[in-house]
Amino acid sequence: MTWRLVEALPAAEEFVRLRERVGWGAVGLEVARTALAQSLFGVTARHGDELIGMGRVIGDNALYYYIQDVAVSPDWQGRGVGVGLMSAIESYIAATVPVGSCVGLLAAAGKEAFYTPFGYSPRDGSSLGHGMSKVIERA
Ligand SMILES: CC(C)(COP(=O)(O)OP(=O)(O)OC[C@H]1O[C@@H](n2cnc3c(N)ncnc32)[C@H](O)[C@@H]1OP(=O)(O)O)[C@@H](O)C(=O)NCCC(=O)NCCS
Repeated sequence: MTWRLVEALPAAEEFVRLRERVGWGAVGLEVARTALAQSLFGVTARHGDELIGMGRVIGDNALYYYIQDVAVSPDWQGRGVGVGLMSAIESYIAATVPVGSCVGLLAAAGKEAFYTPFGYSPRDGSSLGHGMSKVIERA
């Protein structure tokens, strides 16, 4: 059986499992549920009923949008699933996001080239500045 795209968010349990499979660590089910519920858009890739990939868009629905949690299960990487997920996200953006708004993402180290065909580029600081972030740690 081949895989297919479904324009919907994954269940929280699936989200937690996929994040662990790609090495992003554990998040609690309640955190996952809350995070997913705040999404503007979600897309999954499925092999039968099994979740093999996902991506979502978060943001203020007016000016700023972020592509988040683009992940493909290790067994399925390198077979075009990631491009399928990003294509669905780009279709959503083309149809929904107002002209002049900004779409950002944080590419994992070494993954930048995956996003460049979709028009994303590292910010050089001349316009829009340099992307920066921090993770909140317990003291
Ligand atoms: C990055 C990721 C989403 C790509 O998904 P994928 O299904 O493996 O990618 P695809 O098979 O659709 O490949 C699409 C294209 O991107 C390229 N590509 C894939 N991973 C890449 C990488 N790490 N660096 C550069 N290019 C990459 C492929 O070569 C392919 O190009 P081609 O069609 O010209 O051969 C997937 O590898 C993944 O989930 N990795 C772990 C989680 C992660 O790092 N997510 C990104 C967070 S920013």
